[in-house]
Amino acid sequence: IMSREIIAVIPAAGVGSRMQANKPKQYLKILDKTILEHTLSVILSHPAINHVILAVGKNDPYLSEMTLFPHQNITLVEGGETRAESVLNGLKAIKNNQAWVLVHDAARPCLTHQDLDKLLQIDDEQGAILAIPAVDTIKRANKQQDIIKTEDRTELWLAQTPQFFRCDLLRNALEQGLSQGANITDEASAMELAGFRPHLVAGRSDNIKVTRPEDLALAEFYLTRKTL
Ligand code: CTP
Ligand code: MG
Repeated sequence: IMSREIIAVIPAAGVGSRMQANKPKQYLKILDKTILEHTLSVILSHPAINHVILAVGKNDPYLSEMTLFPHQNITLVEGGETRAESVLNGLKAIKNNQAWVLVHDAARPCLTHQDLDKLLQIDDEQGAILAIPAVDTIKRANKQQDIIKTEDRTELWLAQTPQFFRCDLLRNALEQGLSQGANITDEASAMELAGFRPHLVAGRSDNIKVTRPEDLALAEFYLTRKTL
């Protein structure tokens, strides 16, 4: 465990349509830093992480505004049409197939080292993800938005990032899933399709994905209270 190489892949090539802002949400500022910079600083300051691969939009005009680049520990790659393709492009830049990869959304700036430490304990080829048990009652709906049934909440978890896998296994799983045209919304879903059973590591509920306008105030609140 001690000697394994851990590389972070950060997909940051989305357009942030649900945020309805004038630029992709990862470039919006909270407390004088962009969301992307908050996320990068949590990852880069962790002692176990050797390198970051950042997937950004083609001809992204916002990146050059950031004073962080060029950075010795960050490799830039071009993102793809979907999050899964952006992540796969990042994985292709990794030379060491035995490396472990930590995939983390650029849009989750409130991640703590405490949660990261928990996830990095994992050393099983099934891999693992941070997630939280569902707290709300969950309804299944039909197309008319009427309730079909109430799901058993005790079996339901909300997937977060980071998600942690052996690089070669995740790369194969994503390639396979994408070629099958599967709907891959996180790394674990590609691994599940490939027959793996990733572990759920209970994380904190303040590791939110900044998605809608009202999430900005919440992220600011959490970041204000946070040390690392
Ligand atoms: N992402 C990416 N490449 C894509 C789509 C998304 O790298 N083609 C990244 C986003 O930048 C984000 C993370 O994946 O950091 C999670 O995606 P999401 O929250 O859905 O971000 P967006 O796709 O940008 O937002 P929206 O779905 O509202 O358009
Ligand atoms: Mg999206």
